Amino acid sequence: AMAAERALAVATCTAPVNIAVIKYWGKRDTDLILPINSSLSVTLHQDQLKTTTTAAASRDFTEDRLWLNGKEEDVGHPRVQACLREVRRLARKRRGGGEDTAALSLSYKIHIASENNFPTAAGLASSAAGYACLVSALARLYGVEEELSEVARRGSGSACRSMFGGFVQWQRGERPDGTDSLALQVAPETHWPELRILVLVVSGEKKPVGSTEGMQTSVETSPLLKHRAEVVVPERLAQMMRHIRERDFEGFGQLAMRDSNQFHATCLDTFPPIFYLTDLSRHIIALAHRYNAHHGHTKVAYTFDAGPNAVIFALADTVAEFVEVLRRSFPPATNGDQFVQGLPVGSAALSQELVAAVVTEPRPGAVQYILHTKPGPGPQLVDDPSQHLLGADGLP
Ligand code: DP6
Repeated sequence: AMAAERALAVATCTAPVNIAVIKYWGKRDTDLILPINSSLSVTLHQDQLKTTTTAAASRDFTEDRLWLNGKEEDVGHPRVQACLREVRRLARKRRGGGEDTAALSLSYKIHIASENNFPTAAGLASSAAGYACLVSALARLYGVEEELSEVARRGSGSACRSMFGGFVQWQRGERPDGTDSLALQVAPETHWPELRILVLVVSGEKKPVGSTEGMQTSVETSPLLKHRAEVVVPERLAQMMRHIRERDFEGFGQLAMRDSNQFHATCLDTFPPIFYLTDLSRHIIALAHRYNAHHGHTKVAYTFDAGPNAVIFALADTVAEFVEVLRRSFPPATNGDQFVQGLPVGSAALSQELVAAVVTEPRPGAVQYILHTKPGPGPQLVDDPSQHLLGADGLP
């Protein structure tokens, strides 16, 4: 009866961001968050990008409360409530309906605090890591060990893929109740040790149409999206799995670029149209193609989500040279020494031919900074009590 009698039960977890190489765009059930197509992503390393969440329960708490990055938010948000309800349902099922006196009471109110180790203002997709982390921390608090991607999916579709490390598929599933719409690990983060990721955080863009709203308009109006979901994605998913299995960067990179481009084409095909790619995005796309053309094969691959930041995939032996190309193309405005963050990047000298062929029209200050990272593991339990985001009083 230890847990129940302690004044405060508490659990802290961390969870990663993921970036899709076969995109999820469109729901067949908006309430259960069931997608119209399967998707596939790479989980990014938590040393560079992660969410930390502490969940605490106490019989002394008088109401459920939630803090995001230190600021109190509405805990009544339907997606937060769906996650909470589903984890509690699993806990109840696990206890077999009987009163397990050792288990934490499911009737206690809870406090939740969540923080990102990257600036929210940078517009890096944080809802996937956020909901994956919330579900992991709640599950730990209540002693639930079941499959949890189905629960994380209820927070945000892409969050189910953040429940695993490495390369992850979210299978669309067939059942109307969503019990087969789950994430599965395709390969662990150790599978492709040379793979690197550069996140190009761009400067001063206003907030575009949210993905939840945008994809619903696409489902209702875009014939291209229907064709994509029914015909294109099933073929691409099988191809992408093969490229990953074979560590074929050429195949992986080309397909990732094509799939990003088709996702943005469905946005243009939406009515009224949605624009996530900006003039700068198109500039980065052209730069990547010039770079690959100069080398005669695919050395870098871009992908863009529902925002202006660019994500670049490359192998480790390409990073220093391409980062130098980026430095020349987007000369840092002020923070020259902080332009590249994350994993160390070596120095590279560019040949005259490369510069002439690839670096056209430099745009000073257009890229705020570059984050260098790699594939990483799934959610982690934080054992060290000094890392909890809630104090002994249950407050941040
Ligand atoms: C473009 O998972 O944020 O990043 O399920 O409504 O919460 P909801 O949407 P969300 O959509 C992500 C869309 C995307 C592509 C992807 O991550 O697969």
